[in-house]
Amino acid sequence: MFSNRVTEMLGVEIPIVQAPMGWIARSQLASAVSNAGAMGIIETSSGELDAIRDEIRAMRDLTDKPFGVNIAQAFVRDPAIVDFVIDQGITFVTTSAGSPTRYTAQLKNAGLTVFHVVPTLRAALKAVDAGVDGLIVEGGEGGGFKSPTPVATMVLLPLVASQVDVPIIAAGGMVDGPTMAAALALGAEGVQMGTRMVSAAESPVHANWKQAIVDAAETDTVFLNQHTSPALRALRTERTGALEFDHQQNAMESMRNVLDLYFGGDMESAIALCGQVAGRIDAVRPVADIIAECAQDCLNRLAQLAARYPGGHAGE
Ligand SMILES: Cc1cc2nc3c(=O)[nH]c(=O)nc-3n(C[C@H](O)[C@H](O)[C@H](O)COP(=O)(O)O)c2cc1C
Repeated sequence: MFSNRVTEMLGVEIPIVQAPMGWIARSQLASAVSNAGAMGIIETSSGELDAIRDEIRAMRDLTDKPFGVNIAQAFVRDPAIVDFVIDQGITFVTTSAGSPTRYTAQLKNAGLTVFHVVPTLRAALKAVDAGVDGLIVEGGEGGGFKSPTPVATMVLLPLVASQVDVPIIAAGGMVDGPTMAAALALGAEGVQMGTRMVSAAESPVHANWKQAIVDAAETDTVFLNQHTSPALRALRTERTGALEFDHQQNAMESMRNVLDLYFGGDMESAIALCGQVAGRIDAVRPVADIIAECAQDCLNRLAQLAARYPGGHAGE
């Protein structure tokens, strides 16, 4: 169905990547994504490398399809993280939240394919200079830790695509066939989904969080810590709403009890990282359905557009 540099480099049928997410992006979710023909990713941002080792072992039992690992550099506590990833026999790595010069050479020398997450054109050019194989271009509407000056996918993606030759995976707001088709039209060769995957049936988070995503409107996220670091986008709750314009507090202090929220379902105990696209998610659905429908609807949308506006030339 899809054949491009991302499917070739990642060895997947469908160029959809499940976002890395601390504690969430583990074998239950990632194996469902890989088995659906897309790219499952195991997180390391929890810092629990013993648990991660078990999760990677579990992946080999749960799927014979490719999967990758994320190194979120700001959260690396163990300096041996790169050796750890290489030793696990992983072939695809995304690096994020840090300088692309830090790990790229070491990972590439070990034969891994490296995509770096970038929130600006400047960061994209720096990553290309550092020798990455590809970029994950992440718009500020997405959930998670963010650049303090967020730029929407609609602006950032075509800007970066016009300046680099490496393959791009678009992140931030990706949720269905039309958004995937739009990303392809803007120069990406794949998409990464975070919030959509948190809400999936196989996601290990508490049902309260999934329901909060289903209930959320497109206005129900807050952008926190813009005055300090790290900035982040999260679901609007009483707690995060109070932090929105409070420049005295660092929102990271509210991440302390994150597991009570993630797995205990107490939505006021911490911060639920979440993208604006929650406003477009209206049901908890199995990963296989999300991916199959997204892929088919994307192809349909591209075919419909070509049929509806036939005046162009494929060769431009
Ligand atoms: C709960 C949650 C946790 C995240 N944790 C990470 C992480 O550990 N590493 C990382 O690179 N990105 C992380 N992100 C960002 C995602 O990788 C992804 O790029 C983003 O969610 C895309 O936007 P979307 O939410 O609109 O799909 C996280 C996002 C969410 C929602």
